[in-house]
Amino acid sequence: MSLRIALTKGRLEDQTLTMLEQAGYGTQNVRNKGRALVLPDTKKDIDYILVKSNDCITYVEHGVADLGVVGKDTLMENEGKDYFEMLDLQMGKCCFIVASLPQANLFAKKGQIRIGTKYPHVARSYFLSKNMDVEIIKIDGSVELSPLIGLVDGIVDIMETGSTLKANGLVVLDVCAQISARVIVNKASWKLKKEEIIAVLADLKKAVDERA
Ligand code: PRP
Repeated sequence: MSLRIALTKGRLEDQTLTMLEQAGYGTQNVRNKGRALVLPDTKKDIDYILVKSNDCITYVEHGVADLGVVGKDTLMENEGKDYFEMLDLQMGKCCFIVASLPQANLFAKKGQIRIGTKYPHVARSYFLSKNMDVEIIKIDGSVELSPLIGLVDGIVDIMETGSTLKANGLVVLDVCAQISARVIVNKASWKLKKEEIIAVLADLKKAVDERA
């Protein structure tokens, strides 16, 4: 039976394709995609779809993709969705951090603090666990801007190299969680296409192990 795999575009895209190639998959159609949205593997009976990270979970949860490759950050933000998380690809590594301007004294501030983030659920859970009163302001991109122009006291965001924070004079106050790319699997597909899915997982696991 053929498989459909949802790949996350953007930050993880190139690394995911490189890992698939290392595992023996034919990703030329994804590399040269143009405007096409359903992209057949050139070596295996697989179709790829290239989608935004939240949509990757949606497609896998609804079973229109059998597998998905998506960051743990997106999985944490979308807690409670229905899928199996099967494999840590050990790539796309970054972390969730709390950051602010050095003078903000975020953790010493009395009363409610304001936090800007693309990840409201993660941010709220973090400050709740610290018993801190927080107002979360959802920002869709360039979150680092929000404390610089006085909208918020600090941010919760992902940090990879740290260069965006540094370039904007922000400092890391805490590391909330380590993040990497994961393979998720639709629950019905796991029953109906188990053999095919296990083969893909084994290929990817081998590629991960070869890199370790
Ligand atoms: C992410 C994140 C930071 C930056 C961190 O944003 O939100 O802004 O990357 O990377 P660094 O530690 O290597 O500097 P992304 O590039 O996804 O763009 P966006 O802010 O527009 O969403």
